[in-house]
Amino acid sequence: MTFLTTLDDKALANGGKPDFSLSQRGRSAMEILGSLQKFSSGKLRPAARAEFEADETAAKLSAQHAADTEGKDGRERIAAARLIARSKPMFRLERFIQRYVAEEVFNTGIPAIEERRPMFEAFVNAPIAKPAGGTLELTGIEAPRYWETEWHLEPGGWEGYDLYGPLFAFAVGPFVFSKGGYAAVGVGDDIAQQRIKTVRQFPKAHYERIYEPGCGGATTFRALNTVFPDAELVGSDLSAGLLKGGHRMAESQGLKAHLKQREITRTGEPDASFDGVITYALHHELPPKENAKLFEEMYRILKPGGDIVISDPPPFRVVDLFHAVVLDWETENRGEPFFSAVLHSSLEQQLKDAGFTNVEGYALGQDWYPWITRATKPVDQQLEKAA
Ligand SMILES: C[S@@+](CC[C@H](N)C(=O)[O-])C[C@H]1O[C@@H](n2cnc3c(N)ncnc32)[C@H](O)[C@@H]1O
Repeated sequence: MTFLTTLDDKALANGGKPDFSLSQRGRSAMEILGSLQKFSSGKLRPAARAEFEADETAAKLSAQHAADTEGKDGRERIAAARLIARSKPMFRLERFIQRYVAEEVFNTGIPAIEERRPMFEAFVNAPIAKPAGGTLELTGIEAPRYWETEWHLEPGGWEGYDLYGPLFAFAVGPFVFSKGGYAAVGVGDDIAQQRIKTVRQFPKAHYERIYEPGCGGATTFRALNTVFPDAELVGSDLSAGLLKGGHRMAESQGLKAHLKQREITRTGEPDASFDGVITYALHHELPPKENAKLFEEMYRILKPGGDIVISDPPPFRVVDLFHAVVLDWETENRGEPFFSAVLHSSLEQQLKDAGFTNVEGYALGQDWYPWITRATKPVDQQLEKAA
């Protein structure tokens, strides 16, 4: 029997040409995880919500949450709601499955990549036929301690496994993430489209130079290039592994981008050298104080009149109480130490404190996600300060 696109191991040993997919066994393991997650968030979570909302105390707290639009008593209320949710069997089952899938994408995904290590190693090291002319600067700088976290339960953190690139590109991405329904991403959501929609939130039709701090594997650059094909793209990150993978991906797809290993609150870019800044899935991974510093740095490198567009999970104050409990769960259970602290904070206020104007926040899709925050560096900063 022929399985879709994959040659079996015997055929590979006999000189068959690899097609860069997992083995049938690896693929089915990932398929099961993706389907479980979809079932959990698509079927069990609405049932867990109904059970929560039927609780009299939860209903009262939910009404208070809806009325408290500034999120003043959010911490106490979410703590109380968390206890109620945890007392309900459907919530516990749904969260158990979320945690199980989050661990298993590594427990089964890494062996699935290892099964074909030579093939994936060859893929990440293959020469690029027609380079796009982008650059990669690796400076080997020291990372702040918080960055060493095992984010999303990834063993060893960002640099913990040399084939994390292929793991996400060939296993977790197509079989699990593609179905949505994890963290802030709604069930069935198309995360590639969400990036494009986010880029479209830039208010102007043209940008000359766009900067992305925390660009990781440069995934947002594909979307930036789709919407603003003439813009020069520059990104920075601490992870040498992610930057190398991003550079390779960009170069092999004809996408010219300049990637630099930098700590994002000290980019080294000249003052007023960009007209656009975008951040994607970044702020919930920074301590709130670092977000404040980052906004000051982005304000510095933006030209007067330049725009910043941010996509991150929604703040607790804008979501309903059940969803706040679901998001809050990430902090203790999916390697996200700052998730709740950042969702209790206000990126809007931090942008204003850094000097930005026209600050606004709004949702683009279901479950208030992606949540966009955008703002502008005023043209006349003296006048703004005086006002
Ligand atoms: C969740 S990932 C998002 C990556 C990318 N923006 C995307 O959407 O795929 C967060 C990224 O921020 C980077 N990062 C976190 N703190 C950083 C810091 N202080 N300096 C540079 N990069 C940082 C991480 O290395 C990681 O690649």
